[in-house]
Amino acid sequence: MKITILNGSPKGDLSVTLQYVEFLKKKFPQNRYTTFNIAQKIKRIETEPAEFKKIIAAVKESDAVIWSFPLYYMLVHGSYKRFIELVFERKAGSVFKNRHAATISTSIKFFDNTAHDYMHAICDDLQMQYTGYFSASMNDLKNSDTQKQLTLFAKKFFKAAASKERFSPSYSPINCKKQKYSPGKAKPVINNSLYKIIVLSGGIKPKSNLDNMINFFCGQFTDDIQIIDLAKEDIKNGCLGCCHCGYDNTCIMEGRDGYVDIYKTVIQTADIIIVADEIHDRYLSSTWKTFLDRSFFNTHKPSLLNKQIGFLISGPFSQTGGTLQTTLQGWCEFQKAGNIGVVTDEQSNSKRTDNLISDFAKRAFWGLEQRYITTDTFLRVGGFKVFRDDIYGSLRTVFNADHIYYKKNGYYDFPQKKIGLRMLNTGLKLLLRIPALRKRVFTQEIIPGMVAPLKKIVNNTKADS
Ligand SMILES: Cc1cc2nc3c(=O)[nH]c(=O)nc-3n(C[C@H](O)[C@H](O)[C@H](O)COP(=O)(O)O)c2cc1C
Repeated sequence: MKITILNGSPKGDLSVTLQYVEFLKKKFPQNRYTTFNIAQKIKRIETEPAEFKKIIAAVKESDAVIWSFPLYYMLVHGSYKRFIELVFERKAGSVFKNRHAATISTSIKFFDNTAHDYMHAICDDLQMQYTGYFSASMNDLKNSDTQKQLTLFAKKFFKAAASKERFSPSYSPINCKKQKYSPGKAKPVINNSLYKIIVLSGGIKPKSNLDNMINFFCGQFTDDIQIIDLAKEDIKNGCLGCCHCGYDNTCIMEGRDGYVDIYKTVIQTADIIIVADEIHDRYLSSTWKTFLDRSFFNTHKPSLLNKQIGFLISGPFSQTGGTLQTTLQGWCEFQKAGNIGVVTDEQSNSKRTDNLISDFAKRAFWGLEQRYITTDTFLRVGGFKVFRDDIYGSLRTVFNADHIYYKKNGYYDFPQKKIGLRMLNTGLKLLLRIPALRKRVFTQEIIPGMVAPLKKIVNNTKADS
């Protein structure tokens, strides 16, 4: 069989993920493989039509496609995403139709699920036969059990492709029909003279719905709001994945393009950040994604602490399948920011969008003045446990700056360090060996015991003035 491998790592042949595919090539030498370094070569693929055509021709020739990619900010790398956008923009999607697809990633397993869900949805949009995912931690290949499971995964994939096995899609096609948003006259009712509000966009087409949404939002405020169109900024390339930033948060591109300067002087000094973008396939634009990837020079530390962050989105947000919503929420939680929420132009009429935007603006301002921070969910709690363990362990040398920060800010909150709790657990465990006591605890003590300290707080609570 002919297999096309689309490599999503900016490191090209030096990709960790690609080693998993190389392993499979050795295991199954009977197939013919063609690999394209998509993320690394995106500029050529985008600007030289022959390069793009070569990839599309290979896909057309092949029986199956392996999407091999590293995790980048809860999704794929911005340049890989750009390739996906090109496939749709250049109407080349038909060559993928009915071909079998599998996704293989490496990561530290921080939101690897959202990246695979996204790629699954893209495969469904391309009408491929999506067979499943293999998500590995970077060094899993050293483990013989992983080697065995990876081999089985590939065997299953090749068998499905050879026998033309069918798979049910999980995502319905997106209906992209948009209605024109014509805003009313905005009333500048919010005095923002003391605060800095910015709008950050992956690209603003004049007079588009997004442009109108941004203008109506800005019209709610008495003072000017800075609008940054990332497509026009001096951002030369996506994140190179070099991890140069790990030691002391210095990006290797600092001084070579404008990214770090914009991040430090414009974005980090803002009180409210509004991300305004259009839906491209199942996510926002690759320009926005590239911006997000490059913010990795801050490594695994929040760099927008306590800011208010909200989203103005043009396009079928509610049809994107939940992945986008989860990654936006996860990003806000990771930043320990106030999440203002999302307003889209999917409303039945323009007046409704106007009302949503003006309430959104008021909410943003209220959150800022009150210093409201959105509560953590599993997304941050679980995610930070992954970071905590990895920075303390295998990533500590490369990510020295994170280690210093985590130590200083109490992020190393390992439960085994809580000596009092450990002693209590040991003592209680011994006491529970006594049957009569155990019976009493489990029938009479546990439930009221859980509530008692909380009840005490509730009983002493006074009305909020
Ligand atoms: C900018 C950047 C962002 C990353 N984002 C994530 C992430 O969101 N989740 C995760 O688990 N790993 C993340 N990683 C880790 C990489 O996915 C991991 O190192 C991967 O194995 C690299 O594979 P490659 O060598 O094939 O590029 C990120 C790494 C970089 C440099």
